[in-house]
Amino acid sequence: PVLVLRPSLSLHPSQGVSLGENVTLRCHLPQLAAWVWLYQEGHQTYCNYKYKKQDTADFSFLNTNREHAGRYWCQYRLPWSAVDSEKSDPVELVLTDRSFPPPSISLSPEECVEMGTNVTIQCWNKDYGATFLLHKDGCSAPIQRQDLDVVGTATFTIFGVTPADSGTYRCSYRPWGHPFLSSPLGSNVILEVTPTPAPPGGSQPHLSTLGATHEWLCHLLSL
Ligand SMILES: *[C@@H]1O[C@H](CO)[C@@H](O)[C@H](O)[C@H]1NC(C)=O
Ligand SMILES: *[C@@H]1O[C@H](CO)[C@@H](O)[C@H](O)[C@H]1NC(C)=O
Repeated sequence: PVLVLRPSLSLHPSQGVSLGENVTLRCHLPQLAAWVWLYQEGHQTYCNYKYKKQDTADFSFLNTNREHAGRYWCQYRLPWSAVDSEKSDPVELVLTDRSFPPPSISLSPEECVEMGTNVTIQCWNKDYGATFLLHKDGCSAPIQRQDLDVVGTATFTIFGVTPADSGTYRCSYRPWGHPFLSSPLGSNVILEVTPTPAPPGGSQPHLSTLGATHEWLCHLLSL
């Protein structure tokens, strides 16, 4: 039996691509491949490549349109055999469609809040908004997501805020019936959490000095 390692697929740029811009889906090949295929959900083989000597195969879409938005996988075949790899994990190509209006946003309570408060952020678009995503500036991925049964308003709660939750928040939405299209980001709200004095003997992390671990904090927030 031949060992065939699984490929992986990545997007470049990884997010925030608007309709009409270029994007590349890159299939990472752990072994020499004779053929590389890219599949889009709901379609036949989308593209293929013959005889790749490189360890990656790029599938580039120039001037993207709505048809390009969707879920993709790649797969390859070993040379001199009919042995195919498993498909990669799927990757979602979400394209920003600026013809959809940005969502509105509100923050409650509005003022500086103390540590431990539950804070609510509402995002709405009464005409199209079906799935809402909450973004925090400085985090590469959305930190919360909500799928609504009807078009309208999403309510995100950040329970027991800490100074690490301070920052600028915005929303986007996926229009009803278009899971791989995104509205533009809406305007922002700013959350400011005032630290309460540390309990005697307690040690509080100095979050402002943890610049390098910012992405780690984003990860923590999205749990
Ligand atoms: C897309 O790629 C083409 C060909 O490489 C280039 O001419 C064009 O400027 C690119 N468009 C954008 C929006 O980057
Ligand atoms: C925050 O929400 C949780 C869960 O609903 C609740 O148990 C807790 O009492 C709330 N805390 C404050 C400070 O309101």
